Amino acid sequence: MCGIVGYVGAQQAAPLLVEGLTRLEHRGYDSAGVAVLGSRLQVTKKAGRVRDLSEALPKRLAGKVGIGHTRWATHGPATDTNAHPHTDTSGTVAVVHNGIVDNAAALRARLVADGVELASDTDTEVFAHLVARSGADTLEGKVVEALGQVEGTYGLAVVHADFPDRVVVARHGSPLLIGVGEKEMFIASDLAAVVRHTTTVAHLDDGELATVTAGGFTTFRHDLTRTTTQASAVDIDPSAFEHGDVSGEPRMYTEILEQPASVERTLRGRLDERFGTAHLGGLDMDARDLRAFRRVKILGCGSAYYVGQMGASMIEELARVPADAEPASEFRYRNPIIEPDTLYVAVSQSGETVDTLLAVEEIRRKGGRVIGLVNVVGSAIARACDGGIYLHAGPEIAVASTKALTTMFVGFSLLALQLGRVRDLSVADGRRLVNGLQRLPAQIEEILKTEDHIADIARDLADAESMFFVGRVRGYPVAREGAQKLKEITYRHAEAYPTSELKHGPLALISPKVPTVAIVPADELTDRNVAALHEIDARGGPLVIVTHPEVDLGDLHARRIDVPRNETELDPVLLTVPLQLLAYHASVHLGLDVDKPRNLAKSVTVE
Ligand code: G6P
Repeated sequence: MCGIVGYVGAQQAAPLLVEGLTRLEHRGYDSAGVAVLGSRLQVTKKAGRVRDLSEALPKRLAGKVGIGHTRWATHGPATDTNAHPHTDTSGTVAVVHNGIVDNAAALRARLVADGVELASDTDTEVFAHLVARSGADTLEGKVVEALGQVEGTYGLAVVHADFPDRVVVARHGSPLLIGVGEKEMFIASDLAAVVRHTTTVAHLDDGELATVTAGGFTTFRHDLTRTTTQASAVDIDPSAFEHGDVSGEPRMYTEILEQPASVERTLRGRLDERFGTAHLGGLDMDARDLRAFRRVKILGCGSAYYVGQMGASMIEELARVPADAEPASEFRYRNPIIEPDTLYVAVSQSGETVDTLLAVEEIRRKGGRVIGLVNVVGSAIARACDGGIYLHAGPEIAVASTKALTTMFVGFSLLALQLGRVRDLSVADGRRLVNGLQRLPAQIEEILKTEDHIADIARDLADAESMFFVGRVRGYPVAREGAQKLKEITYRHAEAYPTSELKHGPLALISPKVPTVAIVPADELTDRNVAALHEIDARGGPLVIVTHPEVDLGDLHARRIDVPRNETELDPVLLTVPLQLLAYHASVHLGLDVDKPRNLAKSVTVE
């Protein structure tokens, strides 16, 4: 969702701002704008794409200081006027903002009562007026005074025509970083926007502000006392953030293909073959701590929630500790009981999903212990947790999660293994799983080789308006994730059901026009699974079955997709991979924008 960029330095700001904004496009947005500070403050903003903004920019737009924004509409529709930056009435101050002002209505009413004419429907506009009306004599003082009146969350960047050498930024609940260049500074809400220019970066903490000038930055608190936040080099390959690869393939496709390598990275240095366990230093817990937990509660949103369900069943199987997953977006609102002997696990690719972040904060407020399973290093969720497991999947740009999901699964396997081995999981079983995990990259590679066959099936499925995804026990979250992937990028209706529940309702819908994708691993439930699928077959429902080569489907009329078999507990991740390719090829067949599905954002930073 919403993205912030900023620049202060020796170059012209406008092209750098626009370039930065294009690097944030994957996050999801519906309007964009820039404010450039030269001899005067000039603001251009447009509903639509960054390229619409780029075309609307004045030919002569000189200025070496500027801020830019991609907006995801929350308060008011996606119009030119509601796009950021927002200015005060005199056009002296410009502000870009990620987050939500909770008391916007009251602040807007107060400004209107004072005779201010508000231009937009947004909550953000109040910042610009509050900064302009502050009596403080520095920009830092003005921003602090304005923020003192605001309740809510923000990542914020402000420019002011009377202070033309600087951008003042602030963070409270919405990420913000400063990229340090050679006599130039970059500002962004996401590393992706700056890595082409610099990989030396300072992340602001919540409650921190910074003054950014061409020569450097200083950080401070709301009482204007200095803080010591420093920039440091991030170990990242800038090319990993490119949208699409050289061959012009969609980013989702390259991310699917990267999975053997990203799974390998998640595993690197964490497996112990001798003792059949995993080492997760980031948890910062010893065997005694791990033994003390009597429950595991996993929280995430979207695909992270579905993989959380896969993780929960793995933890129950391997560690014999009750475990379940719940959407983080619901958890906080039911006044959850936080138990001291429950291990809470927050799972998130971006580490920014606000629902997950707020759940973490609620748990910690109530004294619970929470670890993160997070991809983005240093992200808000990673910082808010007591410890965690970084996924090392590399940047995930496509909205539909693929390599983050598979590495989350691997992260859960490592956690389940370690939790199991401090309890009753035998060393032999531990070694069996270590060995299974080591086989995963090559097996994913094998599945990727069957792409043509899957693409062929995908083309047939793409024509169906509606379909079911079914699976049992370990296969059920796989079905849920498969349905999610298809919905996200094909806009086809797909509903996941436990196979066992078919006869309790959905069977009524089965017809030759409604296909079913069934997950049928070789396990203790294979025969029951196959029996239930006969009921679909008998009603003319087309079947696609994702299964193992040794499974005998008898006389079922079905197209099958075989995946290699691993240890039963680890099979779900391999069963998931063909479903990614299925959704991807269906989307391509329908001629849709695979990487930027309508109405969806990569990082959902509002509730
Ligand atoms: C959004 C994305 C989903 C993702 C979910 C959680 O809804 O569109 O693909 O699964 O957020 O994101 P996270 O970054 O917390 O894993």
